[in-house]
Amino acid sequence: MKVLITGVTGFAGSHLADHLIEAGHEVWGLRRWRSRDDNVAHLAGRLRLIEGDITDARAMADTIAAVRPAWIFHLAAQSFVPASWQAPDATLTTNIRGQLNLLEAVRAARLTCRIQIAGSSEEYGLVQPHELPITEDTPLRPLSPYAVSKVAQDLLAWQYARSYGLDVVRTRGFNHTGPRRGEPFVSSDFARQVAEVSLGLREPVIAVGNLEARRDFTDVRDVARAYALALERGKSAEVYNICSGQDVSIRELLGMLADLAGVEVATRPDPARLRPSDVPVLRGCCDKFRKATGWEPRLPLRTTLADLLAWWRQRLVGPIADARH
Ligand code: GDD
Repeated sequence: MKVLITGVTGFAGSHLADHLIEAGHEVWGLRRWRSRDDNVAHLAGRLRLIEGDITDARAMADTIAAVRPAWIFHLAAQSFVPASWQAPDATLTTNIRGQLNLLEAVRAARLTCRIQIAGSSEEYGLVQPHELPITEDTPLRPLSPYAVSKVAQDLLAWQYARSYGLDVVRTRGFNHTGPRRGEPFVSSDFARQVAEVSLGLREPVIAVGNLEARRDFTDVRDVARAYALALERGKSAEVYNICSGQDVSIRELLGMLADLAGVEVATRPDPARLRPSDVPVLRGCCDKFRKATGWEPRLPLRTTLADLLAWWRQRLVGPIADARH
């Protein structure tokens, strides 16, 4: 199968490329000229990269016309929630117009293909305790410009499926983590700090934000498998939650990381890490996706966090070794 991944150099995109290449697909990836290639460097010679920005309608049209993929995974986005308060315009433009350009490019090329749209559990936002676990029918009450952009992407995809018959499958991914997780996201930020403590590079004091938030984490490699199954077996125009069904507090997450690294840490609240409004708890139900595809998450959170810590230790030890030589 000829496949195109937008956002291939990102966290989920690079793991999806690993999974699809391993499964024998011909994988093309769209990368912005200013993006770093570290996450896909190991795929050199096996991944075909095309330069282009999703906010550029012409670039999207050219890409779709040149590649003519059978499957498109649309992962490119401004994905960091706090940045969406600092740059709401850029977040809404990148995420909504970027997707519009993709869908219009597919229409203009008269391409018959399946398209996965990566939505988010952030779309549910202000969920009441009696509404847990979150199903696809839980109301959408987004609490950040990022979350609003994801609701718009989700509904735009549905509208294009209904109005123009585009074969779109919508996923609402809950939190995911693992090796290559971007540094600003909480699991990676804490893993880096804990790894630095274990290597003696910092005092055992971790800068933190809201530790009481609860999130439903899945390993990124399980999520990559889920995205592929969404296009293999998902129903057109449908929306599916992708989650583990378990939630942990961010405090517990930090405790697990410290325990895995064998260190004791104290915390230092950092006001800059607090958000104007934070989603208190996200715990999903993925029965609908399981029934449609047979997907189950395989990797337990401790394994995921251990792999993330190992990845950080490797990144931190390299520069130390270099400095000694
Ligand atoms: N980033 C960060 N840094 N978050 C912190 C910190 C900190 O020091 N301390 C506490 N938190 C809390 C945040 O307030 C939030 O409630 C929670 O940790 C999870 O934050 P992240 O994992 O960084 O991201 P997110 O949940 O806001 O969004 C991620 O998951 C979404 C799916 O639910 C991103 O990957 C989104 O792109 C994705 O859609």
